[in-house]
Amino acid sequence: MRIDPAPADSTANLISPIISPSHLSPGAPLRLGILASGNGSNFEAVAEAIASGKLNAKIQVLIYNNPEAKVAVRAANWDVPAVLLNHRNFQSREDLDREIVHTLQQYQVEWVVMAGWMRIVTSVLIDAFPNQIINIHPSLLPSFKGVRAIEQALAAGVKIAGCTVHLVVPEVDSGLILLQAAVPVLADDTAETLHDRIQEQEHRILPQAIAIAARDRLR
Ligand code: GRF
Repeated sequence: MRIDPAPADSTANLISPIISPSHLSPGAPLRLGILASGNGSNFEAVAEAIASGKLNAKIQVLIYNNPEAKVAVRAANWDVPAVLLNHRNFQSREDLDREIVHTLQQYQVEWVVMAGWMRIVTSVLIDAFPNQIINIHPSLLPSFKGVRAIEQALAAGVKIAGCTVHLVVPEVDSGLILLQAAVPVLADDTAETLHDRIQEQEHRILPQAIAIAARDRLR
């Protein structure tokens, strides 16, 4: 992989390497399954990176757990099969994860991307895809794990916030860090304005992290 120097005008790029599209993995597209619960802007970013040739991957299936989730509409627009697995219909987290694994296997998924998946996953899912599940979290881990990470960052008064793509392990938001991007916190930031700027960076580093996964698969 070639790591290009960061442009001088980008704070976020100080932390994340820029991966040149020409150095992304050759060969068969990485078969992705995406898990998402809500808006799906990260799903969209991955689909766009694939469509523009920046990411050699294919989204085999979207799994979502909330019938109202806008991500399902996005999947339809991209002709990606979408499967609703409503967590309310399952007795336990493990039961839900068993059905997720079954669905991912049906669609021949290699790597799983949690892109705004608002459920804690269990070893049922993690063991079925060892070191092949990534998550995007809106903080610079290991700071501010868990829910309301942006509110936690604002309450702590940090001056730099950001986002992290990491491997998923049983402990929440704790696996190996693949990429991070930093975002300055402005004096008048609200959780919403800060989240908007963090999301711009999420949309950049999530496809890059998947590209790293695709490249490493070839080793
Ligand atoms: C993102 O901010 C992500 O970090 C967090 O949930 C949000 C999902 O956003 N885990 P979207 O649904 O992809 O727009």
